[in-house]
Amino acid sequence: MLHERARQLAGESAFDVLRRAQELEGTGVDVIHLEIGQPDFPTPPHIKEAAVRALEDGHTGYGPSQGLPALREAIAEKAGSLRGLHFSPEQVVVAPGAKALLFYTINALAGPGDEVICPDPGFPAYQSVIGHSGATAVPLPLREASGFRFDADEFRSLVSSKTRLVILNSPQNPTGGVLEREDLEVIAREAAEKDFLVLSDEIYLHFCYDSPFETIASLKEAEERVIIVDGFSKAYSMTGWRMGYAILPPGLVETFDLYNVNIASCACTFSQHAAIEALRGPQDSVSNMVSEFRTRRDYLVDALNAVDGISCTIPRGAFYAFANISETGMSSAEAASKLLDEAGVAVLSGASFGPCGEGYIRLSYATSMARLEAAVERIAAFLAKR
Ligand SMILES: Cc1ncc(COP(=O)(O)O)c(C=O)c1O
Repeated sequence: MLHERARQLAGESAFDVLRRAQELEGTGVDVIHLEIGQPDFPTPPHIKEAAVRALEDGHTGYGPSQGLPALREAIAEKAGSLRGLHFSPEQVVVAPGAKALLFYTINALAGPGDEVICPDPGFPAYQSVIGHSGATAVPLPLREASGFRFDADEFRSLVSSKTRLVILNSPQNPTGGVLEREDLEVIAREAAEKDFLVLSDEIYLHFCYDSPFETIASLKEAEERVIIVDGFSKAYSMTGWRMGYAILPPGLVETFDLYNVNIASCACTFSQHAAIEALRGPQDSVSNMVSEFRTRRDYLVDALNAVDGISCTIPRGAFYAFANISETGMSSAEAASKLLDEAGVAVLSGASFGPCGEGYIRLSYATSMARLEAAVERIAAFLAKR
């Protein structure tokens, strides 16, 4: 009954594990949630107040499909200043979440006969949407030995005359890896030479712990070839508000606007008013959260490395630890499933992010220090019993 296209859509382990964990909780089990990629901090009060004001002022109808002009202006300014670049509000398209814009980008640029290079392990929506578009996903391995950066020669060997798009995500989900400027230069050079575009998923921009954020959009060779996708979910703890945006090369704006018109009409109007406040208002909630996450990261990585059978390199960004569990003899899926069922700790199988994630589990440290400590105790006790 289904079209082949629809069969290509895949789920996301974070939501599957969350559902299973909640079922367990329903039976009275205490589960520590390290599966979902969502900050445990509430949306800051001044942002919530802006949404309430917007509702009270009657901003409950459709808005312009591309996004409210005042929001696009705030995005162009803030996104530009964070990256040391100049953007115009005309380049900005606002959509219901960064995920929507990943979908628009891949479908607007690739189809049957085309190839899209994407990270392995990587955010599951990339592979899923590439499959749905009819294009072929070409996985780019990211390995622990090189800090979960890619190998430049391997990257070049994967580029072909069919390559239409390369997807980058730095800081990265699920590894916490961060690409270096030299990595970005390799891609930018190839993009100019071989004529493909780059989707740079920069949703974890604020979560860089050891070095400043760098974007491929700042490289001359990449000019007019980069689609930046970002959003409010992570930086402002606004996952449920569904607010994302893209900063586009000229020529793509109209098409992205048409995707909005055809799929969502526009992003939620009062969320957009709140997003203006997020960008224009005080930023201390962002820096406080990032600083708390750095403390948790340092604790978690040390604590995991003290557990027999686990080793974990320091993730330089995002809020995930990608721990190597190959010494336990369990597959990633088995480890994740047993940790939930037998230890009450919800983590994700590394293999659910791609074949190169086999041998790893992903632990989100977007949860309180007390819960992280309890989780490590439970994991250590579970492994010691085996
Ligand atoms: C790499 C990456 N991109 C995009 C998203 C989706 O963001 P949004 O909530 O804005 O759709 C996520 C969420 O987990 C992510 O990890």
